Amino acid sequence: MTTIKFMNGETLPLEMHKVRIVQKLQLPPVEDRLQRMAEAGNNTFLLNNRDVFLDMLTDSGVNAMSDLQLAAMMRADDSYAGSETFTRMAGKIEEIFGKEFFLPAHQGRACENILAKTFVKPGSIIPMNFHFTTTKAHIVLNGGEVVELLHPEGLQVESTFPFKGNMDVEALEALLVEKGREKIPFVRMEAGTNLIGGQPFSLENLRLVKGLCVRHGVLLVLDASLLTDNLHFIKEREEECRDWSIRRITREISDLSDIIYFSARKLGSAKGGAICTHREDLFRSMRELVTLYEGFLTYGGMSVREMEAITVGLDDAMDEDFIGQGPQFIEFMVKEFQKSGVPVVTPAGGLGCHLNARAFLDHVPQAEYPAGALAAALYLVGGIRGMERGTLSEQRDAEGREVFSSMELLRLAIPRRVFTLSQVKFVIDRVQWLHANRHLIGGLRFVEEPKTLRFFFGRLEPLGDWQEKLVEKFKADFGDSL
Ligand code: F0G
Repeated sequence: MTTIKFMNGETLPLEMHKVRIVQKLQLPPVEDRLQRMAEAGNNTFLLNNRDVFLDMLTDSGVNAMSDLQLAAMMRADDSYAGSETFTRMAGKIEEIFGKEFFLPAHQGRACENILAKTFVKPGSIIPMNFHFTTTKAHIVLNGGEVVELLHPEGLQVESTFPFKGNMDVEALEALLVEKGREKIPFVRMEAGTNLIGGQPFSLENLRLVKGLCVRHGVLLVLDASLLTDNLHFIKEREEECRDWSIRRITREISDLSDIIYFSARKLGSAKGGAICTHREDLFRSMRELVTLYEGFLTYGGMSVREMEAITVGLDDAMDEDFIGQGPQFIEFMVKEFQKSGVPVVTPAGGLGCHLNARAFLDHVPQAEYPAGALAAALYLVGGIRGMERGTLSEQRDAEGREVFSSMELLRLAIPRRVFTLSQVKFVIDRVQWLHANRHLIGGLRFVEEPKTLRFFFGRLEPLGDWQEKLVEKFKADFGDSL
């Protein structure tokens, strides 16, 4: 990572790129924001982006693209079968991962559909460090069960443990011994573990997991959607890899994995998905499903232009300056929050800065969705759109009871190369103001609650008039500032 010091000794995350194409933003006045939030049913997914100032909902499909990516898109080969575009993408995947068999798919969850349909049977058990929503849905849909075996430190919101995405290898061994390969078709490791705050696993941990998989004859599948963040942290935090190139760390991870899949909306900074393996038998077992659900084998539902962009984006993913930018911004946010006592997931992870809504709003019970309430409040005071990752994102159990999430987080995603440091400072400022005024924030309740994926479409209302009071205080403190 390039480290550039300032005269006063400060080290700020300095952007190693320049902005050549821009998109205008606007920040609607606070009264308008109050109205827009009510219209959106207090659900940030239902806001129109024209009413959002800083969109920190996700890093999926919204990373900035480079000049080289845009240029590559112009030379895409549109032929239905055997296109040059496919050959270039397959070549890049082989060059980086050393895997010669590649199956294209339209995005990450489409890869999960193919994997689950191929390997998961009724009664199957899939151990993983932690689930992701779409991954779990596909496994359950095919009659399987997800067993999370995260290292116990992973669920500690505040921790100094550098690899919170690690698998608990003792628990994995016990499960493999008990259930065996008849029940367990594969073990899944997720790089940059999303739902616990973008936390990495270590190379050492992956080696131990692989060792157990080999001993028990079980496949190791890697979800590499957030691989770049994990690579950054391995290089930063794992002694053995300090002097290794990103390519070498990637290859080491890849050599331990039987199958790698990823959402190219994240890894590759474009739109698409990919599965790759070095085993022809595994490739053949999945191949027909790609033609059935995605498209012909040389495009798999992706636009060829996007495939060209992914091919270049994968090269970017091997560039330390590129992969370090997001995590450095996140670390900057986390440090500022720690200084001012704002509760936040530590150590700083990838993907985004995750506020600990449970501690932030310790007066709001989980049944009143503190992370959802904090998301609504942050939009009101800053036009900032975050994503609730707590109880609202869970589903009720078979008896209709709430399933309280183990963490109540508000994710402020940092899409790669999109925001400037002054925008990030604005977010920090508004979060700090909210924290100072947190007693004004109340809970939410559903007025429309869909049975599945309620966080996408559900509509809620504030309990009482706390939002009006919050806006009143905002106006008293900020005057006519937006
Ligand atoms: N795996 C991980 C680790 C993910 O973070 C995602 C998507 C997927 C698989 C599915 O990929 O969206 O291309 O179908 N995460 C997005 C997010 C939705 O906002 O974190 P997809």
